[in-house]
Amino acid sequence: DWTPDSFVEETVAFLKEKVGDDKVVLGLSGGVDSTVAAVLLNKAIGKNLYCIFVNNGLLRKNEFQSVLNQYEGMGLNVKGVDASQRFLDALAGIEDPELKRKAIGNAFIEVFDDEAHKLTDVKWLAQGTIYPDVIESVSASGGPSATIKSHHNVGGLPDFMKLKIVEPLRAIFKDEVRRVGATLGIDPELLGRHPFPGPGLGIRILGDITAEKVRILQEVDAIFINGLKEWGLYDKVWQAGAMLLPVNSVGVMGDERTYEKCVALRAVESTDGMTADWVNLPYEFLQKTSNDIINKVKGVNRVVYDISSKPPATIEWE
Ligand code: XMP
Repeated sequence: DWTPDSFVEETVAFLKEKVGDDKVVLGLSGGVDSTVAAVLLNKAIGKNLYCIFVNNGLLRKNEFQSVLNQYEGMGLNVKGVDASQRFLDALAGIEDPELKRKAIGNAFIEVFDDEAHKLTDVKWLAQGTIYPDVIESVSASGGPSATIKSHHNVGGLPDFMKLKIVEPLRAIFKDEVRRVGATLGIDPELLGRHPFPGPGLGIRILGDITAEKVRILQEVDAIFINGLKEWGLYDKVWQAGAMLLPVNSVGVMGDERTYEKCVALRAVESTDGMTADWVNLPYEFLQKTSNDIINKVKGVNRVVYDISSKPPATIEWE
């Protein structure tokens, strides 16, 4: 019978055997899969595992620093690379969702390749690929592995892609990954995190991306997500987030007429992201959240709640 303990034991033995004394590089995303893969490898090969955690500038508010601290606290050999400006530059003026994904994916590959080059004698690239990714090849869980995979067929592979691949989670499902993570002693809060797309807030800012729009959306998202946690709703929702719409609307603030941005909140229930239903969040919660956002986030004067299910709507707006 499959148990998380036997999986850990067998996988650690397998990794020791397979990788030996070689060095391995792995991209951490802050998500469950890459974290569990890293902790397993760390258990097997320790400091020969070199983790890279890239800030693409499109993460949630304060997430880069807090997750990096968390990784360090877990004893991982991790390097945080703040490449926010590089991603913003690569995205400047791009409005099309697929072109944004490409720009973000390519910037990630460049940054990761630069970092991998600084390491000598690396033989392996580890990825947090899980079984559904293997079948689908497009990851719903986001993160570096998804980004890399979708760019496999772009000509002229970066050097790190010529490395041998090791994917310790490729035979198991998400719920099993969480159980393995729990057995490994990973913080339940990290294991219970909602999925977050690899391109991050980049595909939740409709239209072109600027530093100011990222700041606005990070504030809005933080109020929404922290509110869900405070109200005990976070774990009842499969995924939640906010979209910054390319729409200004008229409002009033005191005696002044305002003409500012509109944000959409989205919360869905799902099992695998392939289909999803919008969540009937309590009106009191929506009311409080909307007030908080409009009062606290400069530049936003209107909040709407997305009541579309997938299909026909997708979870993300881009
Ligand atoms: P959609 O919007 O297609 O999203 O209903 C389904 C799930 O996939 C995530 N998603 C992505 N994840 N890169 C990723 O790594 C992407 O480009 C991407 N697009 C959507 C989305 O957050 C949801 O969980």
